Amino acid sequence: MASEVRHPIFARFFDRLSRLMEKEAGEQRDELLAGLSGRVLEIGAGNGMNFHHYPATVEEVVALEPEAYLREKAENAALSAPVRVTVRDGAAEPLPLDDESFDAAVASLVLCTVPDPGRALAELRRVLKPGGVLRFLEHVRSESPRKARIQERLDSSGVWPRLGGGCHCGRDTVAAIEAAGFKIDRVRSFALGPSWMHTNPHVIGAARAPAS
Ligand SMILES: C[S@@+](CC[C@H](N)C(=O)[O-])C[C@H]1O[C@@H](n2cnc3c(N)ncnc32)[C@H](O)[C@@H]1O
Repeated sequence: MASEVRHPIFARFFDRLSRLMEKEAGEQRDELLAGLSGRVLEIGAGNGMNFHHYPATVEEVVALEPEAYLREKAENAALSAPVRVTVRDGAAEPLPLDDESFDAAVASLVLCTVPDPGRALAELRRVLKPGGVLRFLEHVRSESPRKARIQERLDSSGVWPRLGGGCHCGRDTVAAIEAAGFKIDRVRSFALGPSWMHTNPHVIGAARAPAS
């Protein structure tokens, strides 16, 4: 079934911006994916900026991307990736994938955008094997009450979601990951670009699905 995410202007903007940011973001993408192995699912893969950062220990990446322009870019990126990457049309909720079929899942800059992060995380739990790994790199709600209020206004007014292809800048994504039943193994906070921006702070980390 074809997914219905259409953000043609944002998609073109994001494609250019992500390439410009690669020098800075590339280090984080390396950290995000280091040590992964086996069969890996990446949701909202965008134009495939992560693909070149997967370690050789990964057997296969199934990369879902629901936006047509970005998916085509991802298909091109997959051709020169160091590991086997299969790009497919699909959104995160529901995932068009079998239960317990992946060793690891990757969510980078996408749980801010999916309409229902709780449902997307429940779907990730469903398709991960027991004890499977979730790696995440996301921008999240600020710990500064003043900045969090600004983020909340940008989100609830619809201003930022309209500009950012459905993105929300004030989500507490680490709490959502825990609420979905994952155990956080590690997480650290950092700024990507100027720290004052409403899309900072970012978090990068690893979580684990229950063992059974
Ligand atoms: C900011 S981009 C991030 C792309 C990529 N993950 C990266 O790290 O560069 C957000 C991505 O989420 C995708 N997306 C939007 N709605 C989605 C949904 N419901 N399920 C999965 N992905 C979605 C967008 O098409 C876009 O590719």
